[in-house]
Amino acid sequence: MLEITPAALEPSATTSQAIKRALEILDQNGVVGIPTETVYGLAARLDRPQGLEKIFSVKQRPFFDPLIVHVESVEMAQRYVKEWNEICSALAVEFWPGPLSLVLEKSNSTPDIVTSGLATVAVRMPRNPSTLELIRRAGVGLAAPSANRFGKSSPTSREHVLREFEGSVFVVDGDASDVGIESTVLRVRGRVLSILRPGIITRTQIDHVLHKYKLSAAWDDTTCQSSTEAPGQLKHHYMPDVPLVLTGENNSTSEVTDFINAHIADMPNEIYGQPVIKPTEFRVGQELQLSADPLLAARELYGSLRTSAQSRADFIFFRVRREMTGEIWSAIFDRLSKAASLTMDSLRQ
Ligand code: TXA
Ligand code: MG
Repeated sequence: MLEITPAALEPSATTSQAIKRALEILDQNGVVGIPTETVYGLAARLDRPQGLEKIFSVKQRPFFDPLIVHVESVEMAQRYVKEWNEICSALAVEFWPGPLSLVLEKSNSTPDIVTSGLATVAVRMPRNPSTLELIRRAGVGLAAPSANRFGKSSPTSREHVLREFEGSVFVVDGDASDVGIESTVLRVRGRVLSILRPGIITRTQIDHVLHKYKLSAAWDDTTCQSSTEAPGQLKHHYMPDVPLVLTGENNSTSEVTDFINAHIADMPNEIYGQPVIKPTEFRVGQELQLSADPLLAARELYGSLRTSAQSRADFIFFRVRREMTGEIWSAIFDRLSKAASLTMDSLRQ
C-alpha cells in the first residue's frame, strides 16, 4: 500500500490556477474533468442539480446508471451515508485515498439523481492531490463518473478527456492515471460484503484488512449478478472506436481476420443508440499488447486501446494467454470482455 505524505497531497503552483477555474465552473452549475489515480472523472457538485444533470447529458449517459460521490475525507463520506461501521473505517484507513468505492445506505444529503433512485450511494476518496484539494475547497462531494461518452473506453489522461469531448470540457491538469482501471466497487451491508465491480483492490486484500483489524464479515457472491444491486454493469461497455476481438493465444492474425469476417453479423449493430461502424470487410488488425504484470497491464489498458483504435486498423485483437490469471487479471478481463465485440470460439468453454 502506498504511503501518502502530506507534501505529496499539496498541488503545485501551476495547478492552483486550474483548481480556481474548476471551482468557478462547478459553482456555476458546470462540469469539469478531474484527474484521479484510476481514470479521469467528469465532476459536478452534489449541491448543484443542474450540474449533476449536465454530467448525464455531456456523457449521453442514461439516468439508471448511478454516479460515485468523491470525497476528501471520511467525515465528508459520512455526510452522504446513513451507516458507517467499523468495517468501513478499517477499509478507509487502509485504502483511502485510493481505488475503492464503498456502496452504503444513502443519507438525505445525497440527491436521488446521483444514485438513480437507489437507496444506496457509492463513495470514494480519490488519490490525486489536485482533485482532493478541489473537493476540499468546494466543501461538498463531487459526483463523477468516468469522463468518457457512455459505453466507450475510460480516459486515463487529460488529453483523452479533451479529445473525448472535443475540448468542450475544462480539465484540471494531472498526470496519467497510474492505476488505469476504475475503482473496486464494494457493497457493505452491515457485515456482508459483495464486490459489484472488480478492480485492483482485491477480495484477498480486503480479507487481509478484515483479519488485521479482527473484524468478521461474510461474502455474498450472488449480489454481483443482480442488475438492481449492481446497475451499470452492462454487457457492452468500455468499447474502443473500432471492434475489439478476444482470441486464443495461438490464433494467427489471418485466423483472427477470417473469424471476424465470418462473424460480422454477430457483432452488435448499435450500442445504446449509437450505430457501430462495420466495414463490409475487415482487413487490417492491430494487436493490443499489454505487459505481463497485471498492475502494468491495467495502467496501459485504456491508453493502448485508444492508440490501437487510432491506428489505421479495421479491428483490434487481444491474445488471451494462459498465464493471465489471478484477481487483477480478472478485473482487467471484466473490462476487456465488455469492450469486445466478438470472442473467438477457441476461448469459449
Ligand atoms: O474509479 C472510479 O470509480 C472512477 C473515477 C472517476 O472515480 N469512476 C467511475 O464511475 O468508474 P462510473 O460512473 O464510470 O462507474 C460507476 C459505477 C456504476 O456504473 C455502478 O456500476 C457503480 O459504480 N455504482 C455507483 N453507485 C452505485 C450504487 N449505489 N449501487 C451499486 N453500484 C453503484
Ligand atoms: Mg465508466
